[in-house]
Amino acid sequence: MVKRFFWVAIATVFFLFHLSVGSVNAVELTEATRTIPYDGTGKTATLTEQEFANGQRLFVQECTQCHLQGKTKTNNNVSLGLSDLAKAEPPRDTLAAIVDYLTNPTSYDGEDDYKELHPNVSRPDIYPELKNWTKQDLTDVAGYTLIAPRLDERWGGTIYF
Ligand code: HEC
Repeated sequence: MVKRFFWVAIATVFFLFHLSVGSVNAVELTEATRTIPYDGTGKTATLTEQEFANGQRLFVQECTQCHLQGKTKTNNNVSLGLSDLAKAEPPRDTLAAIVDYLTNPTSYDGEDDYKELHPNVSRPDIYPELKNWTKQDLTDVAGYTLIAPRLDERWGGTIYF
């Protein structure tokens, strides 16, 4: 009797595990999920699965240390959540704007130059970790940053909730 209960429990765990894994993949793989605003004009860009994977790999490698789950470790007011990105000056909720940020980062109000404060590809002397990034790498990471909130409802916001 106890033994039978044991097997039923194991089967239930496996069943639930498959259900949850299945639903995550269903979100990740659609073309619509990989299609994001290119700039402010209504143009869009669609990342291929390879580009998405490359963007995710580079994000985990170089950005997660400060932006785990789209939050910002040392500044809770400036997260990578879409509403924070949209309210920046100029707005950063598009592919081109994030590529621009990673080339010429500025303060949230756009007033101050942050090239010596935030990782970017313009100052390899300060940020050698991005020295070998190609244009494609930049686009892939920017694209990943905009797709990630669709895959994780807790993306962005503050670390303290
Ligand atoms: C050493 C920590 C650190 C690393 C590494 C880092 N960031 Fe940031 N990031 C910050 C901080 C702090 C801010 C907020 C700056 C401010 O006060 O405006 C920020 C802001 C941003 C913003 C603007 C957010 C907004 O709402 O306007 C973007 C976009 C961004 N980071 C993307 C990235 C990406 C992509 C990477 C990886 C290539 C990265 N960051 C790596 C610390 C970091």
